[in-house]
Amino acid sequence: MFGRIDHIGVAVDDLDGAIALYSERFGMREQHRETIEAFDVEAVLLEVGEGHVELLKPLSSESGIGKFLERNGPGLHHVAYQTDDIDSALEQVKAAGLDLIDKEPRTGIRGSRVAFLHPKSTGGVLTELVEPAH
Ligand code: CO
Repeated sequence: MFGRIDHIGVAVDDLDGAIALYSERFGMREQHRETIEAFDVEAVLLEVGEGHVELLKPLSSESGIGKFLERNGPGLHHVAYQTDDIDSALEQVKAAGLDLIDKEPRTGIRGSRVAFLHPKSTGGVLTELVEPAH
């Protein structure tokens, strides 16, 4: 069902500071930056092999990431698995009895189609499915 880990999502309140950590200290190249209105975040992708670290800074305290930061502070937010066919992956996780946050895919970073599974059915790990734009 899943091809590989596409990215890990990290919630940050200081985007420049986080970019400095990942790019200057860890040597990861900044590959993409995008304001994603639907998620109310500024997002930056850094390359690590074929995968990515996705830094997420909230654009308002109402955003999901903003609420996460208020509760937990900066840190690991979600893990994203890549799939070729998110519609069929969603059917499979639904059939497996997992709780979906998104019953239908939404548009994510770089035109991908994404859907989140509820952490209460995934062992406490907020889990994202990603079908990259073709
Ligand atoms: Co993500």
